[in-house]
Amino acid sequence: MDDGLLEGQLAYYRARADEYDEWFLRSGQYDRGPVWNRRWFLELERVRRELDRFGPMGEVLELACGTGLWTVELARHAAGITAVDASPEVLDINRARLQEACAEISVRYVRADLFDWSPDDAYDVVFFGFWLSHVPPGRFAAFWDLVRSALRPGGRAFFVDSLRPEAPAEKRRLGWTPGDHTMLRRLNDGREYRIVKIFYDPVDLEARLADMGWRFSVRRTENHLLYGFGEPR
Ligand SMILES: C[S@@+](CC[C@H](N)C(=O)[O-])C[C@H]1O[C@@H](n2cnc3c(N)ncnc32)[C@H](O)[C@@H]1O
Repeated sequence: MDDGLLEGQLAYYRARADEYDEWFLRSGQYDRGPVWNRRWFLELERVRRELDRFGPMGEVLELACGTGLWTVELARHAAGITAVDASPEVLDINRARLQEACAEISVRYVRADLFDWSPDDAYDVVFFGFWLSHVPPGRFAAFWDLVRSALRPGGRAFFVDSLRPEAPAEKRRLGWTPGDHTMLRRLNDGREYRIVKIFYDPVDLEARLADMGWRFSVRRTENHLLYGFGEPR
């Protein structure tokens, strides 16, 4: 039912590959001014520290790895990384970033559609950054089954994602309407795409994961980020 939406979502990320990092780095259309930006970077730093404490060691699977903004963080801990994404454009950027930042780590790149892919190995850690919010509601359970199936006994998962915006101005800027699980996104050249975007409440998500057999801790930073870590029960 959501095939067209998912195709559009992937087309958006493929077309956005070269400008994706502007969002993370808060430049261009994503610059919200020094105060807002500073808070964003502080909150990102908090999640990075949480990821360090979690320790993504051993063999790590990164789902929807994108341009490598989190792959470089994983590379500081992991023995090996398998990085999966459906966009060849972001995989190229990821590869170049990793070669420059930490050429000593071996990263295996897999170009695959995560809605039609099964892990071909078992991992100590599965990580996904800013991906859960792009999984349509009807595919939520199947996605978590995929994560579970990728883990070795004793394996763990960690994710980070966007927290629901509270400020009316930010909601307007994002074009987000509560109750709608899609959002319109615009590239720098003005092209528009509709994508899936779901904001989870930390308490609700933790309870839902518990019902599905996960022991997960879901937390938030002050304004911007949702993150969680845990393991199958
Ligand atoms: C919001 S970005 C997150 C990238 C990266 N994890 C990060 O945090 O910077 C979403 C990523 O999902 C990828 N993607 C979109 N649809 C996909 C699909 N069906 N299968 C695999 N990857 C997909 C995009 O290419 C993009 O790299």
